[in-house]
Amino acid sequence: MNYAFELGWHTPGTWAHDVTDNPLALLSDHAHCELQAAVACQALISRYPDRPHLVDAAALVIEEEMGHFRRVVDLLRKLGGELGDTESNPYADKLRRGLGGTSKSSLMDRLLLASMIERRSCERFEMLAEKARQPELRELYSSLAPEELVHQRLFLNLAESECGVEESQARLAVLIDLESTVAAQVPFANRMHGGQKL
Ligand SMILES: [Fe+2]
Ligand SMILES: [Fe+2]
Repeated sequence: MNYAFELGWHTPGTWAHDVTDNPLALLSDHAHCELQAAVACQALISRYPDRPHLVDAAALVIEEEMGHFRRVVDLLRKLGGELGDTESNPYADKLRRGLGGTSKSSLMDRLLLASMIERRSCERFEMLAEKARQPELRELYSSLAPEELVHQRLFLNLAESECGVEESQARLAVLIDLESTVAAQVPFANRMHGGQKL
């Protein structure tokens, strides 16, 4: 696929097989990720209502993420599971902390972080599309991967148009380094953004 940028660290090829030893846990976590992606876009609109291009793009992504949420929950139920509780996401938390902020993050950081998380999700979705143990999961992730690729580009383009190309590219380089360390070091779990099984 044609990504706007490359990852600094690649998830090992065995990850998709390892993580689908508990597909219900993975799907429940994934559903919460889709929900959080929509929540992050709602926060963008609330915080920057005076930026019409940003508002329109974020509103579109919210609709798409909620569509993804529905598809993931539908498969979760079809396989006999149910949506579990929200759990903290060490991957996203470490990224936010590494960038030096939480609720007061700059617009550029919020957009680049969104693009970065979409980029890692694309990598994981592609792996699952090929190597998930369950055919239903391979089908779901084949269809979702290209849609998250669009979001990855959209958030990077928004950062560049709203905050400047050079500034965004410089900050993105920092974020790629940070993300590769975090992704490689978070512990393995049956979650979309867990680390490798050691
Ligand atoms: Fe999504
Ligand atoms: Fe997305």
